[in-house]
Amino acid sequence: MPDALKLLTTRRSFKPFELAGPAPTAAEIDTLLTVASRVPDHGKLTPWRFIVFEGEARRAAGAAIAAAFRVKYPEASPEHVEAERERLARAPLVVAVVSRAGPHVKIPEWEQVLSAGAAAMSLVLAANALGYGTSWITEWYAYDRGVLDALGLAPHERIAGFIHIGRPPGPPEDRPRPSLDQIATRFST
Ligand SMILES: Cc1cc2nc3c(=O)[nH]c(=O)nc-3n(C[C@H](O)[C@H](O)[C@H](O)COP(=O)(O)O)c2cc1C
Repeated sequence: MPDALKLLTTRRSFKPFELAGPAPTAAEIDTLLTVASRVPDHGKLTPWRFIVFEGEARRAAGAAIAAAFRVKYPEASPEHVEAERERLARAPLVVAVVSRAGPHVKIPEWEQVLSAGAAAMSLVLAANALGYGTSWITEWYAYDRGVLDALGLAPHERIAGFIHIGRPPGPPEDRPRPSLDQIATRFST
């Protein structure tokens, strides 16, 4: 089987904390972002952007997550708040894929959102092609206005995913997949 197909038919997600260092190099991160930005994009609107969290910046962002968590749950234990601070520090690299979809005279917003999903998936595949494991997650903080403000998202921007990237512990265990006869039909008259 060609390498590309082998990757596509065997790729699986890992848990963020399973992904170890070393993080991708600066050159590898450029490759990841270059691949992620090479996706179908109706109208060439570039309706997405990326925020890279690496090194200590992961905990600086985590401070905003912990602060928002405290506001949401004032009764939370200090241990729980500390755990929230580590959210983006579980893997050595996290890339937020941000959707910038908005009203447009010609291009439906839905198609712009789909393009952001394509960018996120291309990022995942590129990271796996480089030998890393990935975890595409959103979790509660992707939907918290206080966190989004702290990360610099404009009101119309949304998180498509926080893509966690790092060295996988080993080959992944597979999970059940839908059978093709449940999800695919052949149109006939
Ligand atoms: C937009 C989006 C958001 C997701 N958010 C989460 C999440 O917050 N937590 C989680 O456990 N899985 C989340 N997932 C699911 C995982 O990325 C992954 O699909 C699942 O663990 C099984 O992955 P696999 O089929 O790639 O192995 C999300 C998936 C997508 C597409």
